[in-house]
Amino acid sequence: MPLLEVKNLHTNYLTRRGVVQAVYDVSFSLKRGRTLGIVGEAGSGKTTSVLSILQLLDKNGRIDSGEIWFDGEEITKMDQEQMRQIRGNDISFIFQGLPMSLNPVFTVEEQVCEPFLVHQNMSKAEAENKVTEMLSLVNIADPESVKKLYPHQLSEGMRQRIMIAMAFACEPKLLIADEPTSSLDVTIQAQILTLIKDLKSQANTSILLTTPDIGVIHEMADDVLVMNNGFAVEEAPVEIVFGDDGVFSHPYTEELLKLPGLDAPAGACFRMGYASSLHRNRLHAGCVFTSRCQYATDRCREVEPEWTEVEKNHRVRCFYPRKGVRSNGR
Ligand SMILES: Nc1ncnc2c1ncn2[C@@H]1O[C@H](COP(=O)(O)OP(=O)(O)O)[C@@H](O)[C@H]1O
Ligand code: SF4
Ligand SMILES: [Mg+2]
Repeated sequence: MPLLEVKNLHTNYLTRRGVVQAVYDVSFSLKRGRTLGIVGEAGSGKTTSVLSILQLLDKNGRIDSGEIWFDGEEITKMDQEQMRQIRGNDISFIFQGLPMSLNPVFTVEEQVCEPFLVHQNMSKAEAENKVTEMLSLVNIADPESVKKLYPHQLSEGMRQRIMIAMAFACEPKLLIADEPTSSLDVTIQAQILTLIKDLKSQANTSILLTTPDIGVIHEMADDVLVMNNGFAVEEAPVEIVFGDDGVFSHPYTEELLKLPGLDAPAGACFRMGYASSLHRNRLHAGCVFTSRCQYATDRCREVEPEWTEVEKNHRVRCFYPRKGVRSNGR
């Protein structure tokens, strides 16, 4: 049984201009001990997918239909209190722009202590020792002094490390990291990704990570889900997507793979970000990628493609999957 299974998720936002179908019929599963990366440019529906799992959608957002199974339980049916328990213990999360989420009026120690006191019933002394241990684990030198500091006294990289320490503190079964490095400069990004990988292997946590950067997927993920405009368009183990010539893939994945910089350090790739303004709802027929796809035919404009299993464990939502020439693309 996978740790997390999302089935036919539809999530909408109600806006003054109508309903935005931000996530449309998305399904994926995350196996225990693995890292699943969701990749797609801004507006693809990555954040909406993870917020649906966590039940932390904005007020105007709601899950319209679908099921989300976590560790054998259907969690969309749970009430807020049950979800709060799960979020504090079994699932933790770090978000884009995460250094902002540290509270400026509390010291590092006060903040990092909290999950131990609240969720693990530790005494104050035990929790304080645990904080020192966690800070050392995320490679902070002199944790005894650092824990007495306030967030504004720390560098951005340190704040990031502390957020990660907090996310791993309760030894969660699942860590959700929504663009964990997008706001950071390239050197710090690489360090943070390495840190997440190290902690994952020690804690045996499964990770769901989102990124607009296929280089980060290459670096971090075991499996990948490619999203575009609210749709999942391709799902496969990473070694297939980055594999040899002749692998079939979705034209959008090909586009991502051909972006310059895949050999550069993760995070250094060019990022795309022009899709959010195109966001639609599904009133029109056809493939979601039609307007940008150089292979589109009348069929694509008229009929929504179903999933095609191009090989074992590898599916693509396209009528005409592309036989990629990987070596030229990189
Ligand atoms: N609170 C909201 N109200 C209305 N639309 C939203 C809201 N949050 C996100 N959206 C829209 O939903 C779509 C998917 O957004 P998002 O899930 O943030 O994508 P990503 O994380 O991949 O950039 C976008 O078109 C975005 O504008
Ligand atoms: S179904 Fe057609 S438009 Fe859509 S990605 Fe495939 S070739 Fe392009
Ligand atoms: Mg996002």
